[in-house]
Amino acid sequence: MKRKLFTFLMSYAFTATFAQTQIVLNTDLAKTKISKHIYGQFAEHLGRCIYGGIYVGESNTKIPNTAGVRNDIIEALKALKIPNLRWPGGCFADAYQWKDGIGPKEKRPGMINVWWGGVKEDNSFGTHDFLELCERIGAEPYLAGNVGSGTVKDLSDWVSYVNHPGGSPMADLRKQNGHEKPWNVKMWGVGNEAWGCGGNMTAEYYSNVYRQYATFMNDWSKDAKLYKIASGASDGDYAWTETLMKNIPHNMLSGVALHHYSVLSWQDKGPSVNFTEAQYFKTMEEAWKMEEFVTRHSTIMDKYDPQKKVDLIVDEWGGWYNVEDGTNPGFLYQQNTMRDAMIAGLTLNIFNNHADRVRGANLAQIVNVLQAVILTNEEKMILTPTYHVMKMYNVHQDAMLVPISINAPQYEFEGKKLIAVSASASKDATGKINISLTNIDYSKAHEVTINLRGEKFSKVSGQILSSPKISDHNTFEQPDKVITKNFAGAKLDKDVLRLSIPAYSVIMLTVEK
Ligand code: AHR
Repeated sequence: MKRKLFTFLMSYAFTATFAQTQIVLNTDLAKTKISKHIYGQFAEHLGRCIYGGIYVGESNTKIPNTAGVRNDIIEALKALKIPNLRWPGGCFADAYQWKDGIGPKEKRPGMINVWWGGVKEDNSFGTHDFLELCERIGAEPYLAGNVGSGTVKDLSDWVSYVNHPGGSPMADLRKQNGHEKPWNVKMWGVGNEAWGCGGNMTAEYYSNVYRQYATFMNDWSKDAKLYKIASGASDGDYAWTETLMKNIPHNMLSGVALHHYSVLSWQDKGPSVNFTEAQYFKTMEEAWKMEEFVTRHSTIMDKYDPQKKVDLIVDEWGGWYNVEDGTNPGFLYQQNTMRDAMIAGLTLNIFNNHADRVRGANLAQIVNVLQAVILTNEEKMILTPTYHVMKMYNVHQDAMLVPISINAPQYEFEGKKLIAVSASASKDATGKINISLTNIDYSKAHEVTINLRGEKFSKVSGQILSSPKISDHNTFEQPDKVITKNFAGAKLDKDVLRLSIPAYSVIMLTVEK
Protein backbone atom coordinates (compact mmCIF):
# COMPACT_ATOMS: atom_id res chain seq x y z
CA MET A 1 0.00 0.00 0.00
CA LYS A 2 2.81 2.39 1.09
CA ARG A 3 4.76 1.49 -2.01
CA LYS A 4 1.74 2.23 -4.24
CA LEU A 5 1.25 5.58 -2.54
CA PHE A 6 4.93 6.40 -2.99
CA THR A 7 4.78 5.51 -6.70
CA PHE A 8 1.65 7.61 -7.14
CA LEU A 9 3.20 10.60 -5.37
CA MET A 10 6.39 10.29 -7.40
CA SER A 11 4.51 10.15 -10.68
CA TYR A 12 2.40 13.12 -9.57
CA ALA A 13 5.55 15.07 -8.68
CA PHE A 14 7.03 14.15 -12.05
CA THR A 15 3.98 15.34 -13.95
CA ALA A 16 3.67 18.49 -11.88
CA THR A 17 7.26 19.44 -12.63
CA PHE A 18 7.78 18.20 -16.14
CA ALA A 19 4.38 17.90 -17.72
CA GLN A 20 2.24 20.86 -16.94
CA THR A 21 0.05 20.08 -19.93
CA GLN A 22 -1.36 16.57 -20.01
CA ILE A 23 -3.24 15.46 -23.07
CA VAL A 24 -4.97 12.15 -23.69
CA LEU A 25 -5.93 11.20 -27.24
CA ASN A 26 -8.22 8.27 -27.96
CA THR A 27 -6.98 7.63 -31.45
CA ASP A 28 -9.29 4.66 -32.08
CA LEU A 29 -12.44 6.65 -31.25
CA ALA A 30 -12.39 9.22 -34.07
CA LYS A 31 -16.00 9.38 -35.32
CA THR A 32 -16.77 12.99 -36.27
CA LYS A 33 -15.51 14.54 -39.48
CA ILE A 34 -13.87 17.97 -39.23
CA SER A 35 -15.52 19.73 -42.14
CA LYS A 36 -12.92 21.22 -44.43
CA HIS A 37 -15.18 24.26 -44.63
CA ILE A 38 -13.97 25.35 -41.18
CA TYR A 39 -10.88 26.54 -43.10
CA GLY A 40 -12.78 28.98 -45.36
CA GLN A 41 -11.74 32.52 -46.24
CA PHE A 42 -13.63 35.75 -46.85
CA ALA A 43 -13.10 38.36 -49.60
CA GLU A 44 -15.11 41.57 -49.46
CA HIS A 45 -15.15 44.61 -51.71
CA LEU A 46 -13.40 46.51 -48.97
CA GLY A 47 -10.25 48.61 -49.19
CA ARG A 48 -7.52 46.77 -51.11
CA CYS A 49 -8.90 43.26 -50.68
CA ILE A 50 -10.32 42.83 -54.17
CA TYR A 51 -8.88 45.81 -56.06
CA GLY A 52 -5.08 45.82 -55.91
CA GLY A 53 -4.92 42.81 -53.58
CA ILE A 54 -6.55 40.13 -55.73
CA TYR A 55 -7.55 41.87 -58.94
CA VAL A 56 -5.36 44.29 -60.88
CA GLY A 57 -7.16 44.15 -64.24
CA GLU A 58 -5.64 43.06 -67.48
CA SER A 59 -4.47 46.40 -68.82
CA ASN A 60 -2.48 49.22 -67.23
CA THR A 61 -0.62 46.90 -64.87
CA LYS A 62 2.88 45.45 -64.76
CA ILE A 63 1.79 42.85 -62.23
CA PRO A 64 1.68 39.37 -63.84
CA ASN A 65 -1.94 38.23 -63.90
CA THR A 66 -4.42 35.78 -65.34
CA ALA A 67 -7.65 37.43 -66.48
CA GLY A 68 -6.78 40.33 -64.19
CA VAL A 69 -6.13 38.23 -61.06
CA ARG A 70 -2.58 38.40 -59.70
CA ASN A 71 -0.61 35.22 -60.42
CA ASP A 72 1.26 35.41 -57.09
CA ILE A 73 -2.08 35.45 -55.25
CA ILE A 74 -3.39 32.49 -57.26
CA GLU A 75 -0.30 30.43 -56.38
CA ALA A 76 -0.34 31.36 -52.68
CA LEU A 77 -4.06 30.60 -52.35
CA LYS A 78 -3.75 27.29 -54.19
CA ALA A 79 -1.02 26.25 -51.74
CA LEU A 80 -3.28 27.17 -48.82
CA LYS A 81 -5.98 24.68 -49.96
CA ILE A 82 -8.92 26.97 -49.29
CA PRO A 83 -12.16 24.96 -49.16
CA ASN A 84 -14.52 27.90 -49.71
CA LEU A 85 -14.33 31.63 -50.35
CA ARG A 86 -17.11 33.97 -49.20
CA TRP A 87 -17.87 37.00 -51.41
CA PRO A 88 -18.76 39.92 -51.99
CA GLY A 89 -19.31 40.86 -48.30
CA GLY A 90 -19.86 41.48 -45.40
CA CYS A 91 -21.76 44.70 -45.23
CA PHE A 92 -21.01 45.29 -48.91
CA ALA A 93 -23.13 42.26 -49.86
CA ASP A 94 -26.36 43.98 -48.83
CA ALA A 95 -25.59 46.96 -51.06
CA TYR A 96 -24.32 44.93 -54.01
CA GLN A 97 -26.29 44.79 -57.26
CA TRP A 98 -24.89 41.70 -58.98
CA LYS A 99 -26.35 42.64 -62.38
CA ASP A 100 -24.02 45.69 -62.44
CA GLY A 101 -21.04 43.32 -62.31
CA ILE A 102 -21.66 41.27 -65.47
CA GLY A 103 -21.22 41.93 -69.20
CA PRO A 104 -18.65 44.19 -70.91
CA LYS A 105 -16.57 45.89 -68.21
CA GLU A 106 -16.60 49.30 -69.86
CA LYS A 107 -20.38 49.33 -69.78
CA ARG A 108 -20.81 48.36 -66.14
CA PRO A 109 -22.48 50.99 -63.97
CA GLY A 110 -20.46 52.10 -60.96
CA MET A 111 -21.60 52.64 -57.40
CA ILE A 112 -20.35 54.19 -54.20
CA ASN A 113 -19.08 51.75 -51.60
CA VAL A 114 -20.98 53.37 -48.74
CA TRP A 115 -19.72 50.99 -46.08
CA TRP A 116 -16.03 51.13 -46.83
CA GLY A 117 -14.46 54.53 -47.38
CA GLY A 118 -17.15 55.93 -49.71
CA VAL A 119 -14.95 55.11 -52.70
CA LYS A 120 -16.13 54.48 -56.25
CA GLU A 121 -16.73 50.83 -57.10
CA ASP A 122 -16.50 50.32 -60.85
CA ASN A 123 -17.82 46.74 -60.75
CA SER A 124 -14.92 45.53 -62.90
CA PHE A 125 -14.62 42.48 -60.61
CA GLY A 126 -17.98 40.72 -60.76
CA THR A 127 -19.66 37.32 -60.68
CA HIS A 128 -17.68 35.74 -63.56
CA ASP A 129 -14.38 37.08 -62.22
CA PHE A 130 -15.09 35.70 -58.76
CA LEU A 131 -16.31 32.28 -59.86
CA GLU A 132 -13.36 31.88 -62.24
CA LEU A 133 -10.99 32.83 -59.39
CA CYS A 134 -12.57 30.09 -57.26
CA GLU A 135 -12.02 27.58 -60.06
CA ARG A 136 -8.38 28.63 -60.37
CA ILE A 137 -7.62 28.24 -56.67
CA GLY A 138 -9.78 25.15 -56.17
CA ALA A 139 -12.18 26.77 -53.66
CA GLU A 140 -15.94 26.40 -53.50
CA PRO A 141 -17.67 29.75 -53.92
CA TYR A 142 -19.86 31.00 -51.07
CA LEU A 143 -22.03 33.81 -52.42
CA ALA A 144 -23.56 36.25 -49.92
CA GLY A 145 -26.92 37.42 -51.26
CA ASN A 146 -28.31 40.92 -50.94
CA VAL A 147 -31.33 40.88 -48.66
CA GLY A 148 -30.94 44.35 -47.14
CA SER A 149 -31.40 46.44 -50.30
CA GLY A 150 -32.02 43.91 -53.09
CA THR A 151 -35.31 42.31 -54.04
CA VAL A 152 -36.39 38.70 -53.80
CA LYS A 153 -36.28 38.63 -57.62
CA ASP A 154 -32.67 39.92 -57.71
CA LEU A 155 -31.47 37.08 -55.51
CA SER A 156 -33.64 34.50 -57.28
CA ASP A 157 -32.19 35.71 -60.61
CA TRP A 158 -28.61 35.50 -59.32
CA VAL A 159 -29.13 31.85 -58.35
CA SER A 160 -30.63 31.20 -61.77
CA TYR A 161 -27.83 33.10 -63.57
CA VAL A 162 -25.06 30.99 -62.04
CA ASN A 163 -26.88 27.65 -61.73
CA HIS A 164 -29.59 27.22 -64.37
CA PRO A 165 -28.42 24.76 -67.05
CA GLY A 166 -30.00 26.55 -70.04
CA GLY A 167 -33.22 27.70 -71.61
CA SER A 168 -34.04 30.31 -68.96
CA PRO A 169 -33.59 34.05 -69.46
CA MET A 170 -30.83 34.17 -66.81
CA ALA A 171 -28.97 31.13 -68.19
CA ASP A 172 -29.16 32.65 -71.66
CA LEU A 173 -27.73 35.91 -70.34
CA ARG A 174 -24.86 33.98 -68.70
CA LYS A 175 -24.12 32.23 -71.99
CA GLN A 176 -24.24 35.53 -73.84
CA ASN A 177 -21.62 36.76 -71.34
CA GLY A 178 -19.35 33.87 -72.22
CA HIS A 179 -20.06 31.09 -69.75
CA GLU A 180 -21.89 28.18 -71.31
CA LYS A 181 -22.12 25.78 -68.38
CA PRO A 182 -23.70 26.53 -65.01
CA TRP A 183 -21.32 26.90 -62.08
CA ASN A 184 -23.60 24.99 -59.71
CA VAL A 185 -22.85 27.20 -56.72
CA LYS A 186 -24.12 25.53 -53.58
CA MET A 187 -23.22 27.82 -50.68
CA TRP A 188 -25.43 30.91 -50.34
CA GLY A 189 -25.75 33.44 -47.57
CA VAL A 190 -29.23 34.89 -47.23
CA GLY A 191 -28.09 38.37 -46.17
CA ASN A 192 -25.33 39.40 -43.77
CA GLU A 193 -25.54 40.86 -40.26
CA ALA A 194 -29.27 41.46 -40.73
CA TRP A 195 -29.31 42.89 -37.17
CA GLY A 196 -26.95 45.70 -38.33
CA CYS A 197 -25.54 46.78 -41.70
CA GLY A 198 -27.75 44.19 -43.43
CA GLY A 199 -30.97 46.05 -42.60
CA ASN A 200 -31.20 46.67 -38.84
CA MET A 201 -33.87 44.00 -38.54
CA THR A 202 -35.18 42.23 -35.48
CA ALA A 203 -34.67 38.47 -35.31
CA GLU A 204 -38.42 37.86 -35.70
CA TYR A 205 -38.65 40.08 -38.78
CA TYR A 206 -35.49 38.62 -40.34
CA SER A 207 -36.78 35.06 -39.82
CA ASN A 208 -39.75 35.90 -42.05
CA VAL A 209 -37.57 37.72 -44.57
CA TYR A 210 -35.28 34.66 -44.68
CA ARG A 211 -38.24 32.36 -45.34
CA GLN A 212 -39.41 34.60 -48.16
CA TYR A 213 -36.02 34.96 -49.92
CA ALA A 214 -35.09 31.32 -49.42
CA THR A 215 -38.37 30.20 -51.01
CA PHE A 216 -37.34 31.72 -54.34
CA MET A 217 -33.76 30.43 -54.31
CA ASN A 218 -34.28 27.36 -56.45
CA ASP A 219 -32.25 24.17 -56.79
CA TRP A 220 -31.76 24.06 -60.54
CA SER A 221 -30.13 20.67 -60.65
CA LYS A 222 -29.37 17.76 -58.38
CA ASP A 223 -25.72 18.88 -58.50
CA ALA A 224 -26.63 22.24 -57.03
CA LYS A 225 -28.83 21.52 -54.05
CA LEU A 226 -28.50 24.85 -52.34
CA TYR A 227 -26.89 25.14 -48.93
CA LYS A 228 -28.57 28.22 -47.45
CA ILE A 229 -27.03 30.06 -44.53
CA ALA A 230 -29.02 32.46 -42.38
CA SER A 231 -27.44 35.68 -41.21
CA GLY A 232 -26.48 34.88 -37.64
CA ALA A 233 -25.81 36.39 -34.28
CA SER A 234 -23.01 38.63 -33.20
CA ASP A 235 -20.98 37.23 -30.30
CA GLY A 236 -23.26 36.23 -27.40
CA ASP A 237 -26.62 37.24 -28.88
CA TYR A 238 -28.21 33.89 -28.06
CA ALA A 239 -31.75 35.24 -28.48
CA TRP A 240 -31.00 35.77 -32.18
CA THR A 241 -30.02 32.12 -32.71
CA GLU A 242 -32.97 30.89 -30.66
CA THR A 243 -35.46 32.95 -32.69
CA LEU A 244 -34.05 31.73 -36.01
CA MET A 245 -33.99 28.09 -34.92
CA LYS A 246 -37.57 28.37 -33.68
CA ASN A 247 -39.06 30.32 -36.60
CA ILE A 248 -37.34 29.02 -39.71
CA PRO A 249 -38.37 25.53 -40.85
CA HIS A 250 -35.24 23.40 -40.77
CA ASN A 251 -35.86 21.94 -44.20
CA MET A 252 -35.12 25.39 -45.61
CA LEU A 253 -32.10 26.10 -43.38
CA SER A 254 -28.66 24.50 -43.87
CA GLY A 255 -26.67 26.72 -41.57
CA VAL A 256 -26.89 29.58 -39.10
CA ALA A 257 -24.02 32.06 -39.04
CA LEU A 258 -22.12 33.57 -36.12
CA HIS A 259 -19.67 36.50 -36.14
CA HIS A 260 -17.06 37.18 -33.50
CA TYR A 261 -14.04 39.47 -33.75
CA SER A 262 -11.19 39.59 -31.24
CA VAL A 263 -11.23 43.33 -30.65
CA LEU A 264 -10.03 45.28 -27.60
CA SER A 265 -12.90 47.77 -27.77
CA TRP A 266 -14.82 49.21 -30.72
CA GLN A 267 -13.76 52.74 -29.64
CA ASP A 268 -10.02 52.05 -29.58
CA LYS A 269 -8.90 48.79 -31.08
CA GLY A 270 -5.21 49.31 -30.25
CA PRO A 271 -2.20 48.95 -32.55
CA SER A 272 -1.65 45.89 -34.70
CA VAL A 273 2.09 45.71 -33.90
CA ASN A 274 3.36 47.68 -30.89
CA PHE A 275 0.86 46.33 -28.39
CA THR A 276 1.36 46.00 -24.64
CA GLU A 277 0.97 42.79 -22.66
CA ALA A 278 -2.34 44.16 -21.32
CA GLN A 279 -3.59 44.53 -24.89
CA TYR A 280 -2.26 41.11 -25.82
CA PHE A 281 -4.02 39.50 -22.86
CA LYS A 282 -7.31 41.19 -23.77
CA THR A 283 -7.02 39.97 -27.38
CA MET A 284 -6.46 36.41 -26.12
CA GLU A 285 -9.41 36.78 -23.75
CA GLU A 286 -11.57 37.75 -26.75
CA ALA A 287 -10.19 34.87 -28.82
CA TRP A 288 -10.98 32.38 -26.02
CA LYS A 289 -14.57 33.70 -25.93
CA MET A 290 -15.12 31.79 -29.16
CA GLU A 291 -15.21 28.61 -27.04
CA GLU A 292 -18.06 29.98 -24.96
CA PHE A 293 -19.92 31.36 -27.99
CA VAL A 294 -19.85 28.19 -30.07
CA THR A 295 -20.71 26.07 -27.01
CA ARG A 296 -23.72 28.16 -26.04
CA HIS A 297 -25.03 28.78 -29.57
CA SER A 298 -24.68 25.01 -30.16
CA THR A 299 -26.64 24.26 -26.98
CA ILE A 300 -29.52 26.38 -28.25
CA MET A 301 -29.34 24.70 -31.63
CA ASP A 302 -29.36 21.29 -29.91
CA LYS A 303 -32.67 22.20 -28.25
CA TYR A 304 -34.39 22.73 -31.62
CA ASP A 305 -32.28 20.39 -33.71
CA PRO A 306 -31.02 17.50 -31.54
CA GLN A 307 -29.94 15.56 -34.61
CA LYS A 308 -27.56 18.37 -35.55
CA LYS A 309 -28.83 18.81 -39.10
CA VAL A 310 -28.40 22.59 -39.14
CA ASP A 311 -24.76 23.71 -39.10
CA LEU A 312 -23.16 26.57 -37.17
CA ILE A 313 -21.10 28.63 -39.62
CA VAL A 314 -18.72 31.18 -38.08
CA ASP A 315 -18.43 33.11 -41.32
CA GLU A 316 -16.52 36.06 -39.84
CA TRP A 317 -13.79 35.77 -37.20
CA GLY A 318 -10.33 37.18 -36.51
CA GLY A 319 -8.42 40.03 -34.88
CA TRP A 320 -9.43 43.65 -35.51
CA TYR A 321 -7.06 46.53 -34.66
CA ASN A 322 -6.60 50.18 -35.57
CA VAL A 323 -5.59 50.67 -39.20
CA GLU A 324 -1.93 51.24 -40.06
CA ASP A 325 -0.85 54.88 -39.84
CA GLY A 326 -1.42 56.82 -43.03
CA THR A 327 -3.95 54.37 -44.48
CA ASN A 328 -7.63 55.03 -45.21
CA PRO A 329 -9.60 54.30 -41.97
CA GLY A 330 -12.35 52.76 -44.10
CA PHE A 331 -9.94 50.23 -45.64
CA LEU A 332 -9.20 48.22 -42.45
CA TYR A 333 -5.58 47.52 -43.37
CA GLN A 334 -3.56 46.12 -40.45
CA GLN A 335 -0.29 44.24 -39.91
CA ASN A 336 -0.29 40.64 -38.75
CA THR A 337 2.04 39.43 -35.99
CA MET A 338 2.61 36.35 -33.83
CA ARG A 339 -0.39 37.58 -31.80
CA ASP A 340 -2.53 36.86 -34.87
CA ALA A 341 -0.94 33.43 -35.19
CA MET A 342 -2.13 32.83 -31.61
CA ILE A 343 -5.70 33.86 -32.48
CA ALA A 344 -5.65 31.55 -35.49
CA GLY A 345 -4.16 28.51 -33.73
CA LEU A 346 -6.45 28.80 -30.73
CA THR A 347 -9.62 29.49 -32.75
CA LEU A 348 -9.04 26.65 -35.18
CA ASN A 349 -8.49 24.26 -32.25
CA ILE A 350 -11.83 25.41 -30.83
CA PHE A 351 -13.61 24.90 -34.16
CA ASN A 352 -12.07 21.43 -34.65
CA ASN A 353 -13.14 20.33 -31.19
CA HIS A 354 -16.72 21.50 -31.97
CA ALA A 355 -16.81 19.74 -35.33
CA ASP A 356 -20.11 18.07 -34.50
CA ARG A 357 -21.88 21.45 -34.96
CA VAL A 358 -19.35 23.95 -36.37
CA ARG A 359 -19.17 22.90 -40.00
CA GLY A 360 -17.93 26.08 -41.60
CA ALA A 361 -15.99 29.26 -40.83
CA ASN A 362 -14.42 32.14 -42.72
CA LEU A 363 -11.43 34.13 -41.52
CA ALA A 364 -11.89 37.89 -42.04
CA GLN A 365 -10.36 38.62 -44.50
CA ILE A 366 -8.17 37.05 -47.14
CA VAL A 367 -5.97 39.89 -48.49
CA ASN A 368 -5.07 43.35 -47.08
CA VAL A 369 -8.07 43.55 -44.73
CA LEU A 370 -8.22 42.74 -40.97
CA GLN A 371 -6.48 39.44 -40.05
CA ALA A 372 -5.32 38.83 -43.61
CA VAL A 373 -3.39 35.76 -44.70
CA ILE A 374 -1.73 37.84 -47.44
CA LEU A 375 -0.61 41.47 -47.67
CA THR A 376 0.32 43.24 -50.90
CA ASN A 377 2.07 46.46 -51.80
CA GLU A 378 1.93 47.13 -55.52
CA GLU A 379 3.81 44.19 -57.11
CA LYS A 380 5.05 42.84 -53.76
CA MET A 381 3.23 40.18 -51.77
CA ILE A 382 3.91 38.67 -48.33
CA LEU A 383 2.44 35.76 -46.41
CA THR A 384 1.51 36.56 -42.82
CA PRO A 385 1.99 34.41 -39.69
CA THR A 386 -1.76 33.66 -39.96
CA TYR A 387 -1.19 32.22 -43.44
CA HIS A 388 1.43 29.87 -42.03
CA VAL A 389 -0.88 28.68 -39.24
CA MET A 390 -3.75 28.05 -41.65
CA LYS A 391 -1.43 26.16 -43.96
CA MET A 392 -0.09 24.01 -41.12
CA TYR A 393 -3.63 23.25 -39.93
CA ASN A 394 -5.01 22.27 -43.34
CA VAL A 395 -4.14 18.62 -42.57
CA HIS A 396 -7.27 18.63 -40.38
CA GLN A 397 -9.54 19.33 -43.37
CA ASP A 398 -12.10 16.50 -43.68
CA ALA A 399 -10.06 14.35 -41.27
CA MET A 400 -11.72 12.59 -38.32
CA LEU A 401 -11.65 14.42 -35.01
CA VAL A 402 -9.77 12.48 -32.33
CA PRO A 403 -11.48 12.87 -28.93
CA ILE A 404 -9.17 14.80 -26.64
CA SER A 405 -8.90 15.39 -22.94
CA ILE A 406 -6.57 18.19 -21.91
CA ASN A 407 -5.36 19.47 -18.62
CA ALA A 408 -3.44 22.67 -19.32
CA PRO A 409 -1.68 25.34 -17.25
CA GLN A 410 -2.84 28.94 -17.01
CA TYR A 411 -1.36 32.06 -18.52
CA GLU A 412 -1.65 34.70 -15.78
CA PHE A 413 -1.60 38.46 -16.16
CA GLU A 414 -2.36 40.92 -13.33
CA GLY A 415 -4.41 38.34 -11.44
CA LYS A 416 -6.41 37.23 -14.49
CA LYS A 417 -6.01 33.79 -16.02
CA LEU A 418 -6.48 32.11 -19.37
CA ILE A 419 -5.79 28.54 -20.43
CA ALA A 420 -2.32 28.70 -21.99
CA VAL A 421 -2.19 25.61 -24.17
CA SER A 422 -4.98 24.53 -26.50
CA ALA A 423 -4.94 21.49 -28.77
CA SER A 424 -6.95 19.46 -31.24
CA ALA A 425 -6.19 16.28 -33.15
CA SER A 426 -7.46 14.37 -36.15
CA LYS A 427 -6.88 11.10 -37.98
CA ASP A 428 -6.38 11.38 -41.73
CA ALA A 429 -7.38 8.88 -44.41
CA THR A 430 -4.02 7.09 -44.14
CA GLY A 431 -4.27 6.63 -40.37
CA LYS A 432 -1.79 9.37 -39.44
CA ILE A 433 -2.65 11.46 -36.40
CA ASN A 434 -2.11 15.23 -36.66
CA ILE A 435 -2.00 17.12 -33.38
CA SER A 436 -2.09 20.93 -33.33
CA LEU A 437 -0.94 22.78 -30.22
CA THR A 438 -0.99 26.50 -29.49
CA ASN A 439 0.67 28.10 -26.47
CA ILE A 440 -0.62 31.66 -26.01
CA ASP A 441 1.54 32.31 -22.92
CA TYR A 442 3.32 35.67 -23.24
CA SER A 443 6.52 34.49 -21.58
CA LYS A 444 6.53 30.82 -20.56
CA ALA A 445 7.24 27.64 -22.45
CA HIS A 446 5.15 24.69 -21.27
CA GLU A 447 6.02 21.03 -20.99
CA VAL A 448 3.48 18.76 -22.65
CA THR A 449 2.85 15.02 -22.46
CA ILE A 450 0.46 13.39 -24.87
CA ASN A 451 -0.84 9.89 -24.15
CA LEU A 452 -1.77 8.08 -27.32
CA ARG A 453 -4.43 5.53 -26.47
CA GLY A 454 -6.03 2.87 -28.63
CA GLU A 455 -3.31 2.33 -31.26
CA LYS A 456 0.46 1.95 -31.46
CA PHE A 457 2.66 4.49 -33.25
CA SER A 458 6.36 4.44 -34.05
CA LYS A 459 7.25 7.79 -35.66
CA VAL A 460 6.74 11.46 -34.91
CA SER A 461 7.57 14.54 -36.96
CA GLY A 462 6.63 18.15 -36.50
CA GLN A 463 6.49 21.74 -37.64
CA ILE A 464 6.61 24.91 -35.60
CA LEU A 465 5.74 28.57 -36.03
CA SER A 466 7.53 30.69 -33.42
CA SER A 467 9.59 33.85 -33.33
CA PRO A 468 11.81 35.69 -30.81
CA LYS A 469 9.32 38.52 -30.22
CA ILE A 470 5.56 38.34 -29.98
CA SER A 471 5.23 41.42 -32.18
CA ASP A 472 7.31 39.80 -34.92
CA HIS A 473 5.77 39.95 -38.36
CA ASN A 474 6.70 39.77 -42.02
CA THR A 475 7.33 42.92 -44.01
CA PHE A 476 7.89 43.66 -47.68
CA GLU A 477 11.58 44.16 -46.82
CA GLN A 478 11.80 41.01 -44.68
CA PRO A 479 9.10 38.65 -45.98
CA ASP A 480 10.42 35.49 -44.29
CA LYS A 481 11.06 36.70 -40.76
CA VAL A 482 8.21 34.49 -39.46
CA ILE A 483 7.95 31.17 -41.25
CA THR A 484 7.16 27.56 -40.41
CA LYS A 485 10.19 25.39 -39.53
CA ASN A 486 10.72 21.71 -38.87
CA PHE A 487 10.31 20.74 -35.24
CA ALA A 488 12.25 17.75 -33.95
CA GLY A 489 11.63 18.43 -30.26
CA ALA A 490 8.89 15.85 -29.71
CA LYS A 491 10.01 12.46 -28.38
CA LEU A 492 7.86 9.36 -28.67
CA ASP A 493 8.41 6.83 -25.92
CA LYS A 494 6.06 3.85 -26.36
CA ASP A 495 2.65 5.50 -26.28
CA VAL A 496 3.70 8.83 -24.76
CA LEU A 497 4.82 11.94 -26.63
CA ARG A 498 6.84 14.54 -24.75
CA LEU A 499 7.75 18.04 -25.85
CA SER A 500 8.16 21.60 -24.72
CA ILE A 501 6.11 24.25 -26.52
CA PRO A 502 7.75 27.70 -26.49
CA ALA A 503 5.85 30.82 -25.46
CA TYR A 504 3.55 32.16 -28.22
CA SER A 505 4.07 29.39 -30.69
CA VAL A 506 2.08 26.90 -32.74
CA ILE A 507 3.18 23.30 -33.28
CA MET A 508 1.78 20.60 -35.56
CA LEU A 509 2.86 17.04 -34.75
CA THR A 510 2.26 14.05 -37.00
CA VAL A 511 2.45 10.55 -35.58
CA GLU A 512 2.54 7.46 -37.76
CA LYS A 513 2.47 3.70 -37.24
O1 AHR B 1 -15.26 42.14 -42.05
C1 AHR B 1 -15.58 43.49 -41.94
C2 AHR B 1 -17.05 43.70 -41.61
O2 AHR B 1 -17.32 43.23 -40.34
C3 AHR B 1 -18.04 42.98 -42.48
O3 AHR B 1 -18.31 43.67 -43.65
C4 AHR B 1 -19.25 42.93 -41.62
O4 AHR B 1 -20.06 41.82 -41.89
C5 AHR B 1 -18.68 42.89 -40.21
O5 AHR B 1 -19.29 43.80 -39.38
